[in-house]
Amino acid sequence: MGNRELLEFVEELARGGGGILRKSYGRRQTIHFKGEINLVTDVDRESEGYILGRIRERFPDHGLLSEESPERRSPSPYRWIVDPLDGTTNYAHGYPCFCVSVAVEHEGAVVAGAVYDPLLDESFTATRGGGAFRNGERIAVSKIADLRKSLLATGFAYDVKTSTDDNFDYFRAFVLTGQAIRRDGSAALDLCYLACGRFDGFWELKLKPWDTAAGLLVLHEAGGVSTRLDGGSYDIHQPDLLASNGLIHAQMAEVLRKAKK
Ligand code: IPD
Ligand code: CA
Ligand code: CA
Repeated sequence: MGNRELLEFVEELARGGGGILRKSYGRRQTIHFKGEINLVTDVDRESEGYILGRIRERFPDHGLLSEESPERRSPSPYRWIVDPLDGTTNYAHGYPCFCVSVAVEHEGAVVAGAVYDPLLDESFTATRGGGAFRNGERIAVSKIADLRKSLLATGFAYDVKTSTDDNFDYFRAFVLTGQAIRRDGSAALDLCYLACGRFDGFWELKLKPWDTAAGLLVLHEAGGVSTRLDGGSYDIHQPDLLASNGLIHAQMAEVLRKAKK
C-alpha cells in the first residue's frame, strides 16, 4: 500500500478520535490516576477504542503500540503508534490544547502521520518524502536564526516531583537565553507548531514513542531537525529530544551542554 493511501486512513483516524474528544470536551470527566499526576480519562479510552478498532478491522495483522493498551506485536512490517489524547491534563482541566496523534511505521520507519487538534480543526499531516501539511497547505519551519529571538517550547515529565532528572536547570537556562518559553502540555502539538514556524525550538527529557511518532515526521518533512539533548541521533524510542528549525540547533545544544548538571 502506498504512503498516500495510508495517510488518508491515518488522518481519518486522527479526525475520528478528535471528534470523540471534542464531543465530551468541557464535560466532567471520570479520571483514573496512573500516578500522582499522570491520569487517563474515559474519553482517552473511547478515542483509543475507536482508533484501534478501525485499525484492527482494516489491517488485522498489523502491530499496534498505543498509550493506554498493551502493545500488540506482529510479524507484519507495519506498526501503528497511537496517542488517543495527547494533552490529557489540559483536557481534564478544560484547557483548550490537546490532540490525537496517529502514525504508521513500515519496517521501523514512520511513513505517515497525523496530529489533529479538534478544537481548532487543525490537521497536521506528513508522509515520508512527501512534505508536511496543515489542513492540506504545505508548511515549513521558521527562518529565525538567533536563539535570542526564538520562541521555545518544552514539557515536564510525570515524575517531575520525584526525579532529580527534572528539566529545571535547562528551563532556567533557556528562559535566560531564548526570547520566551511556552509549556503547553501537548508534545505532539509542540512538534507540529515547530513544524509550521510558530515555535523555533523544543526540548523535553522523557518522551514516549506515541508522543513523537507523528509529530516528528511532520517536523522532518517541514525541514526541522531532531537530535538527543547531547547532539546524538534521536529516534522515537529515545526519551530525550532536542528539536528545532535547524538554524538554532547548535545554539540550543550549547545551552544544554552548559546547563547540564
Ligand atoms: C504528555 C504531553 C506533555 C508532555 C508529557 C507527555 P499525555 O502526554 O505530551 O506535553 O510534557 O511528557 O506525557 O500524557 O498528555 O498523553
Ligand atoms: Ca502523550
Ligand atoms: Ca495520552
